[in-house]
Amino acid sequence: MKLLLDRHSDTPLYRQIAEQIRELIRTGVLTAGCRLPTVRRLALDHGLTRLTVQSGYAELQTQGLVESYVGRGTFVAERAQTMSIPTARAALSRSAVDPATWRSGSSLLSELVRMGEQPQMLSFAQAIPASSTYPTRELQQALSRVLQHPDALDYGPIQGEAELREQVSPLLLERGIAESPEAILISAGAQQGIDVALRALAKPGDVILAEQPVYPGIMELAAAHGLRVVAIPMDEGGMRVQELEVACSAHRPRLVYTVPTFHNPTGLSLDPDRGEALLALAREHDFLLLEDDVYGLLAYDGEVPLPLKARDQSGRVIYITSFSKSLAPGLRLGALAAGPDWLAPLAAAKQSSDLICSSLMQRALALYLRRGHFASHLQEVRILYRERRDAMFKALDTYLPSCGYTRPRGGLSIWVTLPEDIDEYDFCREATLRGVGVARGQAFFAQPQPHGHMRLCFGSHAPDQIEQGVRVLGELLQDYRRHRTLLLARAGLSAHPLV
Ligand SMILES: Cc1ncc(COP(=O)(O)O)c(C=O)c1O
Repeated sequence: MKLLLDRHSDTPLYRQIAEQIRELIRTGVLTAGCRLPTVRRLALDHGLTRLTVQSGYAELQTQGLVESYVGRGTFVAERAQTMSIPTARAALSRSAVDPATWRSGSSLLSELVRMGEQPQMLSFAQAIPASSTYPTRELQQALSRVLQHPDALDYGPIQGEAELREQVSPLLLERGIAESPEAILISAGAQQGIDVALRALAKPGDVILAEQPVYPGIMELAAAHGLRVVAIPMDEGGMRVQELEVACSAHRPRLVYTVPTFHNPTGLSLDPDRGEALLALAREHDFLLLEDDVYGLLAYDGEVPLPLKARDQSGRVIYITSFSKSLAPGLRLGALAAGPDWLAPLAAAKQSSDLICSSLMQRALALYLRRGHFASHLQEVRILYRERRDAMFKALDTYLPSCGYTRPRGGLSIWVTLPEDIDEYDFCREATLRGVGVARGQAFFAQPQPHGHMRLCFGSHAPDQIEQGVRVLGELLQDYRRHRTLLLARAGLSAHPLV
C-alpha cells in the first residue's frame, strides 16, 4: 500500500496515515475484511517508525473502522462500510481546522468559511450575523441614490469619506468614545484595521502580547509581519493582569492586542478594574493597546462594559471596530480611532495597502446611517441574538451537561470546555462528519492545550436548529465515550498515542 505522506504538513504523520486509509475505506478501495499491511511493512515502505504506524492504526481502531487480532493482523471492520462517510464531509475532515494553520499560511478563517458553505452542514463554526437580518432593501435604496452622483465611483480620500466618518463619530460616542470625524480612519473591516495598525506601529521582530485563547486573525497577521506573539492567559475576568505585568517586564512589548468586550472566542468581557490596570501598565511600560471592539454593539443583558478607549487618558489606545458583526460582514467597512500622533502613520499604512475603501459602499453606508436605520436594526438583532444565545445555553445544559461553557452577555460565540476524557481533535472532526460544524479550540491557541475546547457560534441559526445541532453533539459525546471504552477494553490501547 502506498500512502502519500507530507512530512512538512502540520498534521502528524500517524493522523495522515489514519485519514488516508479512512478515505480508501470510504471510496471502497478497501472493503470489509481486507487485510492492512503489517505495521512493520508499512513502516519500512514509508521510512516511518513502527510507533507512528501503530498510532495511525490505533486511531482507525478507535473509530471502529479496523480491527486488530494478535498474531493475525489488522483488517477493515465489517461495519466500516456501513458507517457513512460522505464525500464533502470526508473532504472537510482532511482539511479540518488545524492548530498551526496561521503558521503554515493556510488560513483558519477561510477554513471556517468553507465549513459554513457545506450545503448540509449545520455550522456553528463562524461568528457571523444572521443573513436574514441584512438590510438589503435599505442598502439597495441607499446605493441607487448614491449612484445618482458619478463621483461615488471616484477615488475618495485615504482617510475615508467625510460623510461616513461624520456618521461613525456619534456611533463611537454610544460606546463612550468622544472622537471627532477628523480623528477617524475608515478601514476595510476590522481585519484591515489590525493589519494597518501592526504595519504602522510595529516592526519585524517586535513582541506583541495578546490574550489567549485569541482571535486567529491577529496571529495570522502577526506571522505575516514578522512579529512575535506572547500569549497572556485569560480567565472569566479577561486577560490576567499579573501575567501581563510579568510579560511586560520580560519582553518590553510594543503593542498589546485585546478584545476586551465580548471576546472572541470566549464571549467574555474584561473586568473594569483590570481595564484600569491595563491602562496603567500601558503608561508604565510605554506600550500601545490595540483594542478590537467588533462585538461591542452586540450586548444582550447586564451592564455593557465601557471600552478601554473611553477611559484612555494618555492616548495609548488604538480603537478598532467594524460593521461586520453588527450589520453585515460583506460591507467590508470598519473604523479606527487613534490619538493625533498615530493617525498619520495609520493612514499611510492604509494607503499603501489598498489606497481607499470603496467610495460607493462608504457613501451608501453613510446614507443608511444618516437615515437612522441602524438604531432599529441594532434593537432587532440584539433581541434575536439574545434568544439564540439562550437557546444554546439551554441546549448545552440539556445535551452536554458534562461540558463547561461561558455565559457571554453579548457577542456571537460561546466557549465550551470538553470533558477531560474527550479528545478535541477527534470530537470536532466527528462532529463535522455528523453534519455539525464547530471551531475546534486549538485553533485559538499558539501552543497545544491540555484540555479540549470548541467554539460554538449562535448568531446564524434559529433556536430549533441550535437545539438540533447541540443534540447531535450530545449524542456524539455519549457514543464517543461508549465506543471508546469498548475499544480500549478490547484492544488494550491508549487513546492518546505518544508520538
Ligand atoms: C475579534 C475579531 N476581530 C476582527 C474580526 C474581523 O472582522 P472584520 O470582518 O470586520 O474584518 C473578527 C471576525 O471574526 C473578530 O472576531
